[in-house]
Amino acid sequence: MWSIQNLLFIFCISLRCLTSAVGMIHVTGYVGREVNVSCSYEQSYVSHEKYLCKNDCGNSDVLITTSQASKTKYSIYDDTSARIFTTTIFDLQYTDAGKYWCGVTKTGTDIYTEVKLKLVQDRCCDTVTKVQSYEGHSESVSCRYESQYQNSLKYICRGNRPSTCLQQALITSDTKQNARFRLDDDKVLGTFTVTISNLTRNDSGSYLCGVHRNSELDVFSAVELKIEEWCCVKSTKINGTAGHPLTLQCPYPPQHWDNRKFLCKGDHRNNCSDMVTSRSRFTLQDDAASSSFTVRITELEAADGGTYWCGSDSQWRVGNYTKIELSVFLQHTRKIPDAALYVLYTVPPVLLLMCLLVTVYKNRSSRVNEADDTMSRNTPKEKNIEEVMGAAESGIYKNQEVVMTYVQQKVCKDGGGDEGVYEIMTAVATEDIYCNENFHKANRR
Ligand SMILES: *[C@@H]1O[C@H](CO)[C@@H](O)[C@H](O)[C@H]1NC(C)=O
Ligand SMILES: *[C@@H]1O[C@H](CO)[C@@H](O)[C@H](O)[C@H]1NC(C)=O
Ligand SMILES: *[C@@H]1O[C@H](CO)[C@@H](O)[C@H](O)[C@H]1NC(C)=O
Ligand SMILES: *[C@@H]1O[C@H](CO)[C@@H](O)[C@H](O)[C@H]1NC(C)=O
Ligand SMILES: *[C@@H]1O[C@H](CO)[C@@H](O)[C@H](O)[C@H]1NC(C)=O
Ligand SMILES: *[C@@H]1O[C@H](CO)[C@@H](O)[C@H](O)[C@H]1NC(C)=O
Repeated sequence: MWSIQNLLFIFCISLRCLTSAVGMIHVTGYVGREVNVSCSYEQSYVSHEKYLCKNDCGNSDVLITTSQASKTKYSIYDDTSARIFTTTIFDLQYTDAGKYWCGVTKTGTDIYTEVKLKLVQDRCCDTVTKVQSYEGHSESVSCRYESQYQNSLKYICRGNRPSTCLQQALITSDTKQNARFRLDDDKVLGTFTVTISNLTRNDSGSYLCGVHRNSELDVFSAVELKIEEWCCVKSTKINGTAGHPLTLQCPYPPQHWDNRKFLCKGDHRNNCSDMVTSRSRFTLQDDAASSSFTVRITELEAADGGTYWCGSDSQWRVGNYTKIELSVFLQHTRKIPDAALYVLYTVPPVLLLMCLLVTVYKNRSSRVNEADDTMSRNTPKEKNIEEVMGAAESGIYKNQEVVMTYVQQKVCKDGGGDEGVYEIMTAVATEDIYCNENFHKANRR
């Protein structure tokens, strides 16, 4: 009799007579991450040792016990009030997949619960929904789920790592609204929608829609969001001349005929300032028939250079405006204003002579500080004049009038001290005017 018992015992040992007390536990973990294996036990075993073992559960198969609670790859925690002990397996590798046993030590045969550990890659998913939008817009991402998850927690996160998605969720169905993110759950349709507003190009990338499940891994679907920078119906570069009027053309979509039209200036459309205000040099004229408006700038100034935006849609939607880059050039100094031409043709030669005399006199008596040190005294005079004009043309001066005055004074003053002055006055036709101007000035003083 005892031999049969003994035989049975030996048989049991050899077959690792392990039977599950509460059926098999299925656990799935992500490669590289951790997994919790939780096993319950009966009240009478609260003070007993618990352990996790692998394969056949021989002595060398025991991975961790509650009496030696921590190892690098495993940790165990016995929640005696809930009568559940949980073993955590860290840094999961594919070789960790397989059969485990939760064990409770007792006299005679221990109590075993079989555990099946399955591993999946920490990536998702084979199919990706692509969503494209533009900077500054709002975009909705729809995530479908099965009807059984109606009341589950829904969430969305960046990246494509399911293991950390809930932890790093941008928004969940519990929060509903968080800064630029909003989550709406349509339980009837079985879809939850995440709306992201004020998109930037930084929002481009992978997202995971997640549905939380309590005893299994969460369910995911992947979305790829692409945010593009965008511009205009048209982008143009325009050159203007200081002191002259300029007209800008702004086409708009025909359906905008009734919208407010505007021209604003600034590097970015988000913070450009409206230029067409009352009493400004900018006037706007709308021509609905040609689906465009024009903005006339009465007298261009150097400071008008920059980036402008023609708009007909306050929402700044794609393609609804024109970008204009305006460069303002200073007028060529040799171009003679009408008033000066008048002087040139009407002033008798005798006045020219007087001019010269006055100039010479003036320079002799008051030739001082303004002498240009950088100019070599030996440089031919014509070259000096060119330099003066070059400086004027290079854009230091706001408008033509200022430039002219500057050149006039320069020519006459510089000329006075040098022997070559008379030649210059006659050689450079346009400089005659300067002398006349100077003549008037001298008289006024
Ligand atoms: C495992 O359990 C611990 C403690 O309850 C918890 O902090 C951890 O997030 C769990 N890990 C996983 C992968 O569920
Ligand atoms: C989006 O940006 C606009 C203007 O920059 C701001 O007024 C608005 O509050 C922003 N919306 C959100 C949801 O951040
Ligand atoms: C975009 O992301 C980069 C780095 O990730 C950051 O430096 C930059 O400030 C972000 N830009 C915006 C507009 O959020
Ligand atoms: C504007 O001026 C620049 C520099 O002189 C020149 O390269 C460009 O072609 C001009 N553009 C137009 C539209 O006239
Ligand atoms: C205008 O907006 C752009 C981009 O948003 C920013 O770089 C710039 O600093 C802003 N300028 C001003 C004056 O606010
Ligand atoms: C803005 O422009 C786009 C493309 O030209 C057009 O489809 C859209 O209807 C316009 N938006 C409005 C509000 O008119």
